[in-house]
Amino acid sequence: MSNLKSSRIEGLHKMPPEARLRAVAQQADLKEEYVDVLSAAASGQITLADRLVENAISSMAIPIGIATNMIVDGQEMLVPMATEESSVIAAVCNSAKRCRSTGGFKTSTSGPIMAAQIQLVGATDPENVRLKVLERFDEIKEICDTVDPLLLKFGGGFRDLDIRVIDTAEGPMTIVHIIVDTRDAMGANAVNSMAEALAPRLEEWTKARSILRILTNLADRRVVRARAVWPLDEIGGEQVRDDMLSAYYFADADPYRAATHNKGIMNGVSAVVLATGNDTRAIEAGAHAYTARDGWYRSMSRWEKDADGNLVGILEMPMAVGLIGGATKIHPTAQANLNILGVKTADALARIIVSVGLAQNFGAMRALATTGIQKGHMALHAQNVALMVGATGPEIDQVANELKSIGKVRQDIAEEILARIRSEK
Ligand code: MEV
Repeated sequence: MSNLKSSRIEGLHKMPPEARLRAVAQQADLKEEYVDVLSAAASGQITLADRLVENAISSMAIPIGIATNMIVDGQEMLVPMATEESSVIAAVCNSAKRCRSTGGFKTSTSGPIMAAQIQLVGATDPENVRLKVLERFDEIKEICDTVDPLLLKFGGGFRDLDIRVIDTAEGPMTIVHIIVDTRDAMGANAVNSMAEALAPRLEEWTKARSILRILTNLADRRVVRARAVWPLDEIGGEQVRDDMLSAYYFADADPYRAATHNKGIMNGVSAVVLATGNDTRAIEAGAHAYTARDGWYRSMSRWEKDADGNLVGILEMPMAVGLIGGATKIHPTAQANLNILGVKTADALARIIVSVGLAQNFGAMRALATTGIQKGHMALHAQNVALMVGATGPEIDQVANELKSIGKVRQDIAEEILARIRSEK
């Protein structure tokens, strides 16, 4: 337990970030070395951090690596990925390389369509409410489109209504979905503003009461699909292919395995989402909910073998990412990463992200069906353990190499090795 006496710090949000860090350090009785760490990490980042979040004191650097070998819809791609996890980027590079001979990843999309929900309660006639709202289609379109004229200018705007009466523990509710084309925006701001503008009018027309007015992250009208074919000789033969298929059937049948299988997919997906300043939680929530849309949780990907015995992978998931709004536009690192990608539309970005997710899944399944993942992880893990025990400079590789050669990547052993190396100096 911390020794913190109180979690109240009067006026913290009004202080400049450096003073804030001091105030927090004092309250938390933080050692000077940690204050220095946070100060150093803040350097060059704090103005932006302060603009993005409340009570900013520092910034946390996540490594950005480049996935090579990607071909998406015939286009060669270098893909920046932001992740702290070893092996994730290497797996994408390797998997992408193995399907280059068949043209890489082919994608399709249902378009940048988002939805917001307005919850209507308290009516004794929820079905009647549904019809009353549908009758106002033209007025609703006008209210929504007036909220965001810029979106309209770029070809987006209100498209449709979908109204559902759902049964809840509190009785039936009428849920109004406004369906909006958000173009190159992720769309949360646009649809939320529309929902908030519309709700009072719905109350007026229906006499029901509106409570929540918010987008749904189950963006099932903004689905992106990627597929790729891995030739048998790139997989390692029939046995590996069949074991990979077994791994897929296992994940598709068992939620315990599906959670891990899908976590691997999201390793790739979230890393590109983060690198481009998009909302990782929105994508993750949408991906998992979409996967469970039939009422049970299963694999996000599909795998089969084609007539020639090659392995075909398919990934289909909601991909609500944008190029404007949020951190994407104001985070210089996100802008730099988007420039590496060279994408001009949110649609193009979404296609790349889903392709990376599929590549990641291939890599994880192949590793698991053959040597297991520890071998690959251990090389990088050994370096981390060497760093953890205080190795510096050339000692890091010396300790890591010895740990790998004895096949035991453990902190206690790393300490012994380091002590020995130093005594031999
Ligand atoms: C590790 O971050 C991801 C994997 O566990 C994914 C999987 O099991 O498929 C390797």
